[in-house]
Amino acid sequence: MQRYVLGQAPGIDQLRLEEASETELGMDGVRVEMRAWSLNYRDLMVVKGTYGGRYQPGLIPLSDGVGHVIEVGSTVTRFKVGDRVASCFFRDWIEGPLTPVKAKTALGGGVPGVLADRVVLPEHGLVHVPESLSDLEAATLPCAGVTAWNALIDTAVLRPGQTVLLQGTGGVSMQALGIAKAAGARVMITSSSNEKLERAKQLGAEATVNYREQPEWDRAAYEWTGGRGVDVVVEVGGADTLPKSLRSLTYGGNIAVIGVLTGANPEMPLPYLFSKNARMTGIYVGSRLQFEAMNRAIEQNKIRPVIDRVFEFEEAADAFRHMESGSHFGKIVISRKGPEAK
Ligand SMILES: NC(=O)c1ccc[n+]([C@@H]2O[C@H](COP(=O)([O-])OP(=O)(O)OC[C@H]3O[C@@H](n4cnc5c(N)ncnc54)[C@H](OP(=O)(O)O)[C@@H]3O)[C@@H](O)[C@H]2O)c1
Repeated sequence: MQRYVLGQAPGIDQLRLEEASETELGMDGVRVEMRAWSLNYRDLMVVKGTYGGRYQPGLIPLSDGVGHVIEVGSTVTRFKVGDRVASCFFRDWIEGPLTPVKAKTALGGGVPGVLADRVVLPEHGLVHVPESLSDLEAATLPCAGVTAWNALIDTAVLRPGQTVLLQGTGGVSMQALGIAKAAGARVMITSSSNEKLERAKQLGAEATVNYREQPEWDRAAYEWTGGRGVDVVVEVGGADTLPKSLRSLTYGGNIAVIGVLTGANPEMPLPYLFSKNARMTGIYVGSRLQFEAMNRAIEQNKIRPVIDRVFEFEEAADAFRHMESGSHFGKIVISRKGPEAK
């Protein structure tokens, strides 16, 4: 088998494609011939050694992948040869609340990731892929999709007619756009690019604001809601955006705290939090049960993930460079075509 591993020193240029012997299957193992992967901002941080303070030479990166089952262990009941499957971000978080033990099983972090042509995972760490999606589309779901679902549906309990503020046009935000529209919400989205905002409008965003041209986008959000404030913010910006997210929120509103793109230590206008009876909840992707619930919603509502660009398996380093450039809109995908690629 072929797999990518992190090099001795951090950096995209250090990523190495190497030959390795097949992983042992085990009784509950499922061997998957991989067809597609997607990148998350966290994977870029892992490769550059800026994620969680610990760089791990030799680690296989990436949490998100889709492939076809080619072999199953003797106790496997949920999958058979030929099934299309996707990896779960947390290998061992099946259901219920996150625990320290489950949190240590993030693919491409605490345990080896999936950027290899063949991967073995325990059956509890895989889900069936929605029939309505191609392999490339389905590969965008495990991290960004489940995070957006957890934030909007399970945590903020989004209702039809409510308003959602999304930050930027990256992976999480564009997955959230699809889910929010399917849930009947109205969406305002921010971006540094007017061209990206135009594309977001075509995908259903009702309101747009360029956060470079209009740094006080919290005011724009307030005006857009007629002075009421938004019901839900999907907060991926961190230090620079969180204070504005609080200001843009309605009474009883929800902020799903997800990312730290602009830094991790915000100066918080706390009075906004208590005086508005607002809720702020940390989101860390989600469980397999949440992934499966999202997949049913994707099929039923024909939600289509937004793919920015597709790279070949051999071009994985270029995919990381593309993410580093910040020019993407939606998800960056890596592809490896096989005979039955969908
Ligand atoms: N907690 C979790 O479970 C979880 C899960 C997934 C991701 N995350 C985190 O969420 C963040 C986003 O991840 P991702 O994979 O979606 O990243 P991504 O695809 O690389 O998206 C990044 C986008 O964010 C936008 N952005 C950058 N600075 C911004 C700012 N100041 N205000 C508003 N938008 C800004 C940019 O959009 P424009 O180009 O349109 O300006 C950029 O393209 C990262 O910090 C990541 O680590 C956390």
